[in-house]
Amino acid sequence: MDTKKQIVEWHDSYSIGIRLVDDQHKELINLTNRLHVASVMGWENSKAAFMSAIRAAVDYVGYHFSTEEKIMERINYPEYKAHKKEHTDFVKEVLSQVQDFQAGQKTSANDFVLFLRDWILAHVGVCDKKLGIYLIKLKKEGALSKMTMQVKKDAGQRVIIK
Ligand SMILES: [Fe+2]
Repeated sequence: MDTKKQIVEWHDSYSIGIRLVDDQHKELINLTNRLHVASVMGWENSKAAFMSAIRAAVDYVGYHFSTEEKIMERINYPEYKAHKKEHTDFVKEVLSQVQDFQAGQKTSANDFVLFLRDWILAHVGVCDKKLGIYLIKLKKEGALSKMTMQVKKDAGQRVIIK
């Protein structure tokens, strides 16, 4: 993707040290850039493109949050509740903004993209970083060596925390 068209770029400082989660965060950044491209094309001219980019982002966010929540459940993460609440509140906010778009009440696609970007970076930098530190500690203690999880029930996909 043309870097001028990127509103956010992955930086190694965003890494939480767990590859599975880092890869998903990279994909969230890609999707945010895709939304940005759709928004600079002109929201009025490309409503369909923007809405399809939003749909892809919302789907992926759901998949990503469920991955993190399954990890947290699996390790009895002490801050599970607070972390999950951040996810839930974010999804509610996104869905309400999407509804506003659909109803034609929201006109600034760019504000929406900036909101997404800022939330993702703030959440990854604080909440997910904390989770990463906890996971790395478990890994060092050898408690994660054989952990696998069922992340996508429907597809039966199993992932290994690396
Ligand atoms: Fe998270």
